[in-house]
Amino acid sequence: GRVRAPTHIISTISDDRGDEPCYAGVPMSTIVEQGYGVGDVISLLWFKRSLPRYCTKFIEICIMLCADHGPCVSGAHNSIVTARAGKDLVSSLVSGLLTIGPRFGGAIDDAARYFKDAYDRGLTPYEFVEGMKKKGIRVPGIGHRIKSRDNRDKRVQLLQQYAHTHFPSVKYMEYAVQVETYTLSKANNLVLNVDGAIGSLFLDLLSGSGMFNKQEIDEIIEIGYLNGLFVLARSIGLIGHTFDQKRLKQPLYRHPWEDVLYTK
Ligand code: ACO
Ligand code: LMR
Repeated sequence: GRVRAPTHIISTISDDRGDEPCYAGVPMSTIVEQGYGVGDVISLLWFKRSLPRYCTKFIEICIMLCADHGPCVSGAHNSIVTARAGKDLVSSLVSGLLTIGPRFGGAIDDAARYFKDAYDRGLTPYEFVEGMKKKGIRVPGIGHRIKSRDNRDKRVQLLQQYAHTHFPSVKYMEYAVQVETYTLSKANNLVLNVDGAIGSLFLDLLSGSGMFNKQEIDEIIEIGYLNGLFVLARSIGLIGHTFDQKRLKQPLYRHPWEDVLYTK
């Protein structure tokens, strides 16, 4: 019989061998002719399935509203400094991307993990937050440097409004809001942030859409797909900041002495 040489790579999301590339079996002509959007392409390449429009639209909203948050945040700052050091686009981009992590933009997966675990175990917000405190872990998805009870994050409100209108269930998001109510009773800046809103709402998307079984949801959460949304989104802004600095012909950045506390 025919013997198949063992392959060194297994790939399941796309195929470039035919007349046209396919994403999860969907040919490029269908993607273009049927008017698929970026949310559909993410669904195909990340989740290997077509998701309903309300889900792909939600993904697109996440991408749009996380694309940038001004020049002062860690990622944009790094990209700006790198561009001003005369580095190329890719270097400036990755310099910014490398700041994405547990404190900045990369708390979505952990927010989903901890909110899911706490909700599924039936913990009250008090038990959850105080339990995290005992373990010395800050609640991912809670807290912001400039947003607070009196200066809410509009992005969070927009995500919540969209989900209230379009999602069959928002039980995880409602739990996250109850957690926020409790954390706000401790300090004004302990709001549900955009990472926490996306993390909890993606749990609602995964469990409420009927498109994923329990094992698939656990796998998505365990692998950690969701920080990818912020990485992808913020790349748009970081590229913008890089072009902006180059367009403005900004010189090498040097931080002012006056802004450093030199001490022994
Ligand atoms: N959970 C519990 N307590 C918290 C939290 C939290 N998430 N955040 C702050 N606190 C409390 C702690 O008691 C903290 O004291 P500690 O330093 O001894 O732990 C105290 O508030 C003081 O915190 P601040 O200095 O006001 O917080 P800061 O402004 O430095 O941090 C940050 C903001 C980094 C977002 C923080 O709230 C945090 O780590 N949150 C969790 C991670 C997260 O969700 N990051 C995503 C932010 S949104 C984005 O980047 C797009
Ligand atoms: C962001 O989207 O970059 C932020 O929410 C972080 C910040 O401090 O503004």
